[in-house]
Amino acid sequence: MTILVTGAAGFIGYHVCQALLARGEIVLGLDSVTSYYDPSLKRARLKELHNGNRFRFVEASVADRAAMHTLADEHPGITGVIHLAAQPGVRHSLVDPWAYVEANVMGHLVMLETARRLEQLRHLVYASSSSVYGGNQKVPFAVSDPVERPLSLYAATKRADELMSEAYAGLYGLRLSGLRFFTVYGPWGRPDMAPWIFCRSILAGETIPVYNRGLLKRDFSYIDDITQGVLACYDRPPAQPGHRLYNLGASHSEDILHFIALLEEEIGRKAQIELRPAQPGDMAETCADIAATTRELGWTPATSIEAGIPRFVRWFRRYHRC
Ligand SMILES: NC(=O)c1ccc[n+]([C@@H]2O[C@H](COP(=O)([O-])OP(=O)(O)OC[C@H]3O[C@@H](n4cnc5c(N)ncnc54)[C@H](O)[C@@H]3O)[C@@H](O)[C@H]2O)c1
Repeated sequence: MTILVTGAAGFIGYHVCQALLARGEIVLGLDSVTSYYDPSLKRARLKELHNGNRFRFVEASVADRAAMHTLADEHPGITGVIHLAAQPGVRHSLVDPWAYVEANVMGHLVMLETARRLEQLRHLVYASSSSVYGGNQKVPFAVSDPVERPLSLYAATKRADELMSEAYAGLYGLRLSGLRFFTVYGPWGRPDMAPWIFCRSILAGETIPVYNRGLLKRDFSYIDDITQGVLACYDRPPAQPGHRLYNLGASHSEDILHFIALLEEEIGRKAQIELRPAQPGDMAETCADIAATTRELGWTPATSIEAGIPRFVRWFRRYHRC
């Protein structure tokens, strides 16, 4: 019994692999190790995963049809898939839209087609995003809310993944679950995301640009909670073939300036903040309604930002020796 984890060299993928390995699973990791952010961080994560002998790694693109079908043929014992590989980042989707359609739309289609070839597959869990809620004014965001107004191409590709999954579950009798993640942070995090940029800038004494003049609220989710949520979902496939969606977020909307204040406190240095206008594609507030996730998956997040930020900062300083 093997679990295929795509995006294994990425932030969430790395933690999911660690958690699966810790409970004795055999994990086949796949990642194309893109250079969207420093690949040495991805290689460092992979090195940690290779510490045991139950982790194998394939370097390939999920959008590469031939490579993915070969992988399915060579590993008929795959019983589960956790598909996290993607081109992430809202802002970069204005710069390189092609990368998003290639990794997130073509990649998702190839993953679904690969799933059809896996005869022993019980469940495929994949990453969606809170960005699908777009400009919705009603908070918290619930899975039953309308999601027809994405604010970025990134969001549109994630919504496309959800719709393709809905169609494939019905057409081919697959069991599929999509998880809408909300701003995940923590050790081994992502250098393009605000928590990392803020932490690095405060430590380096550099100015932090804060958009929408600081009037931003985010549902910051701590990585260990998200990892547990992914596993809780993976362990509970739909009883019948079908497709489900869940929010995975802390379910608290935190003021971005409060998040920075906690970083300042932990680091012991004041941030130099430059308030700037809103950026295209940005949402003013995100907050997850997790009632259905808790009810159906038995999952509740446990880590406040007061507890999570010090752990993130300690890891950041250790990793960078600063
Ligand atoms: N971190 C968050 O806050 C967040 C929020 C919402 C959704 N998500 C989604 O969760 C998933 C994981 O995100 P993450 O934060 O770990 O990002 P990440 O960038 O750290 O990880 C994604 C990994 O996918 C790999 N990848 C990209 N294109 C690929 C391709 N074509 N084939 C194979 N591998 C490819 C990258 O090299 C990277 O290692 C993504 O689908 C992302 O869109 C993350």
